[in-house]
Amino acid sequence: MINGRLLVVWLIRRNFSNFTVAKMKPRIGVLTSGGDCPGLNAVLRAVVLAADKLGWEVIGFRDGFEGLLPPGNHVILDRHAVNGIMALGGTILGTTNRGHFAAKVGAGDRATVPVKIIADARKLLEDLRVRALIVIGGDGSLVTAQQLQESGIDCIGVPKTIDNDLEATATTFGFDSAVDVVVDALDRLHTTATSHRRVIVVEVMGRHAGWIALHGGIAGGADIILIPEIPFDYEKIAGVIKTREAAGYFGTVVVVAEGARPKHGEQVKRDVEGGEFRLGGIAEIVAREIATHTGKETRCCVLGHLQRGGAPTTLDRILATRFGVKAVQLANEGHFGSMVSYQNYQVRHVSIAEAVNRLKLVPPNGELVQTARDVDISFGD
Ligand code: F6P
Repeated sequence: MINGRLLVVWLIRRNFSNFTVAKMKPRIGVLTSGGDCPGLNAVLRAVVLAADKLGWEVIGFRDGFEGLLPPGNHVILDRHAVNGIMALGGTILGTTNRGHFAAKVGAGDRATVPVKIIADARKLLEDLRVRALIVIGGDGSLVTAQQLQESGIDCIGVPKTIDNDLEATATTFGFDSAVDVVVDALDRLHTTATSHRRVIVVEVMGRHAGWIALHGGIAGGADIILIPEIPFDYEKIAGVIKTREAAGYFGTVVVVAEGARPKHGEQVKRDVEGGEFRLGGIAEIVAREIATHTGKETRCCVLGHLQRGGAPTTLDRILATRFGVKAVQLANEGHFGSMVSYQNYQVRHVSIAEAVNRLKLVPPNGELVQTARDVDISFGD
């Protein structure tokens, strides 16, 4: 009799738990990794809304891949959690470009994520019933995503970087917002440079690519743009400034990308802190050299992380939303190991393996550089 009763209780429990499992929604994980940029929250919002429509539950991992480490640092992201975050800069999940999953270490060398770390992450994802992981990050984070994919964790990549330096996508969200900051700064700096008859050297981000400097410089009416892809010459820069003076233009605005370098010179690297080296400091050197070569009063202005903060532009909000929706579709259709990519005005996908480790640099003889030259912008070459 007692055994019979136990059997009935067991059968009820088993059916109930089967019923609960059946009712549970499948889960997609999402994380933001690497340097932040405007538009990350817009992607998260799109992921949650699109996933909900397709019957997925979204679980967000905090502080990049670090949130995958036991005991786990995660949060269920529902419609309420992402309400009103479209215009918010940064990422509500937090991020890091350091930590246990770093795929790049000093001097740009690649690192392999330790097997134990990946095994721990996989166990956590299994325990949480996460079927696929959406990784929103730049090249380094996508290299990590590729390693996770190869270790049996299904990943979808969403490319982000203000640098716009990923070959596999025509553009990334965050870039337009960063350029907007540069343009706003140049508009302000022109008036003070002209009033004081000074040269102002503005340093912008972009690592080894000159996209931010080039787009920002053209749109902000820079007189000289210095980019990593076209090494410059101080004599040439001084010549341009003197010619401008002779023509009655006494203020000059120079945009220098943080990765730019003089002919026969080196990039200015700030330090190495267990991660990739940081670039920066070239504006001060360029300003000093210009003052020496021209005798003109010269100032420098480093825009730094201003370029990474604040609300995303309209363009970035739309791109981020399209990327988020596409990432969920890819997960839903089982296109694991792929990365969202923007090509010919369409959001498509490519394999992460093909996308990583391929830098997109400014073609020195391309149409955009030529356009800049045609409107009297000098590259100091
Ligand atoms: O990759 C984005 C970027 O902002 C680069 O343009 C810049 O060199 C770097 O990150 C700065 O990194 P951190 O935030 O670690 O100083």
